[in-house]
Amino acid sequence: MIHKKSHDLFSLIENLIPGGVNSPFRSFNEVGGQALFMSYGQGSSITDIDGNEYIDYVGAWGPLILGHRPSCVIKALYSIVENVMVTGAPHILEYEFALKITQIMPSIAKIRFVNSGTESCMSALRLARGYTGRDLVLMFEGGYHGHIDITLASYNHQSSQGIPANVKGNTLMARYNDIESVAELFKKFKDKIAAVIIEPVAGSMSVVKADLQFLKDLRQICFDNNTVLIFDEVLTGLRLALGGAQGLYNIEPDITCLGKILGGGMPIGAYGGRADIMDYLMPNGQVYQAGTFSGNPLSMACGLAIVGELQNPDIYRKLENLGHYFENEFNSFCKEMNYPVLMQRVGSMFSITFSSKAIFNFADSEFIDKDKFAEFFHKVLAQGVYLPPSAYDAACFSYAHSDNDIAKTLEIFKTALKEIFA
Ligand SMILES: Cc1ncc(COP(=O)(O)O)c(C=O)c1O
Repeated sequence: MIHKKSHDLFSLIENLIPGGVNSPFRSFNEVGGQALFMSYGQGSSITDIDGNEYIDYVGAWGPLILGHRPSCVIKALYSIVENVMVTGAPHILEYEFALKITQIMPSIAKIRFVNSGTESCMSALRLARGYTGRDLVLMFEGGYHGHIDITLASYNHQSSQGIPANVKGNTLMARYNDIESVAELFKKFKDKIAAVIIEPVAGSMSVVKADLQFLKDLRQICFDNNTVLIFDEVLTGLRLALGGAQGLYNIEPDITCLGKILGGGMPIGAYGGRADIMDYLMPNGQVYQAGTFSGNPLSMACGLAIVGELQNPDIYRKLENLGHYFENEFNSFCKEMNYPVLMQRVGSMFSITFSSKAIFNFADSEFIDKDKFAEFFHKVLAQGVYLPPSAYDAACFSYAHSDNDIAKTLEIFKTALKEIFA
């Protein structure tokens, strides 16, 4: 496979854009080499500027649940730009989309649309602090909630410099799937914790499912302590089910953060939940949050189109069946061959985890063999499979992926593993 055009362009772009990328997880730093310039996507496939075609399991890092350029979204986009692009005033589609979300996610009584998942988590945390009059935020090691100071204070794979010490001092860290670690912090900081923020299925320390009892206990602790429970469903919302992970677990958070799929491919974020909390937002209340492009008609129109399509339950059934097959085949093969690799999967999110033991929290994820993953990543890329360039981050497949795509991918995965462990 030749990547000449990509490499030539990369040597130009890195002089202008740090690391050549506008978001670091796009870079190949973790696996070595240079990111590829992608220029065309259709259904389950993506093509780079050198004309190489790949089966795409990045899915734009989550949004593309129906694959690239689904016709419902393209139609919605053309039809809205005939009338307007952005207004800076209320638009009827904001009402229609808000109504739709409140219908599919019963925990959301009121919602605010913003422009990214980061913005939604940042705003939800500020709102929780304003509502409770408390400063502390509890999150989980290995959690990712966008590039906001509060949660980048986290001890995880995305830890960053530039976070003021006093911000770090307001972030408490518990262990995922370990309710004792949460209870201890609530005991130590009684009546001081404004919010707990959690991904009900974590996607940045391999794909890790929260234990049902753990989430139930978390719900109860937050309730007992008047702490706002925030489910970060930026990645899981509309991906695992129409009603998100919370629908599958049957647990209602106080606030939910959404993004990614919600915009049908256009930039979007949203946070919503209990009306009494949401009404603390200006102009009703005293918590500020604003945005020039928030709730813009293009994102609303494309979001409505994709959610409309996702109301067909066959889509989630097919994703689960395909995922089940993919996981079973892959894990049986690794077991049979005695390879220390496993697929951790929930719905259409999965990770190829180079570890001999399953991952339940961040500490477990430290044992992932990053070097072996890097080798695997490049071997499968050369055969036409595009995975996230990270040993930890979730890969996604879509409704556009066919049985044939999965079968072909499995063959490529098996060959790569045989070469690695030969
Ligand atoms: C769980 C979760 N929360 C928040 C974010 C941030 O979203 P965005 O990249 O749209 O700012 C992400 C992005 O990957 C995410 O996976």
